Amino acid sequence: MSGELHRIESQEGFEVFRHAYRAAIKEVRTKIEILSEDFAVRHDYNPIHHMERRLKIPASIEEKLERLGKEVSIESAKDNIFDIAGIRVVCNFVEDVYTLADMLIAQNDVKLITKKDYIENPKPNGYRSLHLVISVPVFLLDGREEVPVEIQIRTVAMDFWASLEHNLRYKKTKEIPARIDIELKACAEVSATLDKRMQKIFNELNTIE
Ligand code: GTP
Ligand code: MG
Repeated sequence: MSGELHRIESQEGFEVFRHAYRAAIKEVRTKIEILSEDFAVRHDYNPIHHMERRLKIPASIEEKLERLGKEVSIESAKDNIFDIAGIRVVCNFVEDVYTLADMLIAQNDVKLITKKDYIENPKPNGYRSLHLVISVPVFLLDGREEVPVEIQIRTVAMDFWASLEHNLRYKKTKEIPARIDIELKACAEVSATLDKRMQKIFNELNTIE
């Protein structure tokens, strides 16, 4: 690829910039793992099904800066892009999503930057998830830095839907017919109903024990 496509990578300080986000992912992962283990120890139940993480690649950072009409540079990326570090937490039940979000936000070194509740207010296509952007302190050689991390928290059912929808939308070779959009949205509603029913069963079982 030409140098033109690697404007950020070739800038001085790129590795240090990238490392801060990698470190922030580690910090947040550890926080979530500790909460998850504490749940297991105290309640003999783990709300977290699994976790995924990703560091946005330079080409995607550049593409997003261009899309936002911002300068393509490391400084500009720091100021304008809040999903360079990303973590997705897939929970078993809807209430787990909120419990986990609340517990993270309550930690006194965590700062909430934005919260978008696409569970309470699903996107028009049916997409559901709780999106948080938080910042956490990372201690590097030159001191403390607050680094933003985007966290998507959703149920297994929401994740199942989102992965199919993502494949259709982003890896498509042909135009998606309107009836597929309608059918996908209907599937999102069905899985939201399933989530509600499963939560109810879970809660009822807990009162029996
Ligand atoms: P981005 O520029 O993509 O970051 O959008 P945004 O800043 O408006 O954030 P938003 O909260 O809408 O979405 C951020 C991320 O959520 C996306 O990068 C996807 O991972 C996920 N997401 C949002 N909407 C959808 C959707 O309709 N379908 C799927 N599969 N994922 C979605
Ligand atoms: Mg994003």
